Amino acid sequence: MKKLASLLLSVILMVSLASCKGSVQDSRGESSSPNSRAGSLEGASGEEPGEPDPGSSQAGKTKSLVVYFSWSGNTEMAAQEIQRQTGAELFQIVPAQPYTEDYNALLDIARQEQKANARPEIAGSVENFGEFDVIYLGYPIWHGDMPRILYSFLDAYDCSGKTIAPFVTSGGSGLSGTVSTIQELEPGAVVSGGLSLGSSQVADSAWGLADEVEKWLDANGLQER
Ligand SMILES: Cc1cc2nc3c(=O)[nH]c(=O)nc-3n(C[C@H](O)[C@H](O)[C@H](O)COP(=O)(O)O)c2cc1C
Repeated sequence: MKKLASLLLSVILMVSLASCKGSVQDSRGESSSPNSRAGSLEGASGEEPGEPDPGSSQAGKTKSLVVYFSWSGNTEMAAQEIQRQTGAELFQIVPAQPYTEDYNALLDIARQEQKANARPEIAGSVENFGEFDVIYLGYPIWHGDMPRILYSFLDAYDCSGKTIAPFVTSGGSGLSGTVSTIQELEPGAVVSGGLSLGSSQVADSAWGLADEVEKWLDANGLQER
């Protein structure tokens, strides 16, 4: 009888030990996955301890888009350099009604658009805009401001929760207050410091465009490939 009792006791002990072990594994599993989801960006940089979460580096990867408007090609060169260094996708803002190719005529048209607070129509659209975390936004300075088509873009797309990184090319005016204009138009976005490039510098292939872009990305904690 005594033997039977001690046998029963050891069976109970073994069963309870096994279930204890199981509960430790479960709680580890449960706690690791919410952490890796909430901190997926941190996790991707290898700071997250614990079991590796397959696919977390993919899920946590920052997705970036370079959006730019360029009439004579300078801003386009900067956009392409940013794309090369970041691996971002590229979207060119193209007016539904093309601008004239005559510089002097364009000066007048741009001035009229500015006076009229115009919103020129954009040809095409970014279908998957919601997927992007960082928007590199590039434009030339026209009469001390963004071309009006940039206002059309910012009206059409909600950048809340995203980072906007503005970059401009100009004949010398620089950012011209456009960084704060963008912040006013997109109050839910974080707007980084802007990159200002001179038109003649960008057009000069011997000038260090790649270095300037790299310095700007670093200074603003923006993603590199
Ligand atoms: C309509 C128009 C207005 C401009 N206004 C300015 C200005 O106010 N300040 C300035 O520094 N450059 C001005 N520029 C020069 C452009 O900002 C500069 O050439 C820029 O690099 C052009 O970029 P893009 O080649 O991408 O079109 C103007 C150019 C145009 C066509």
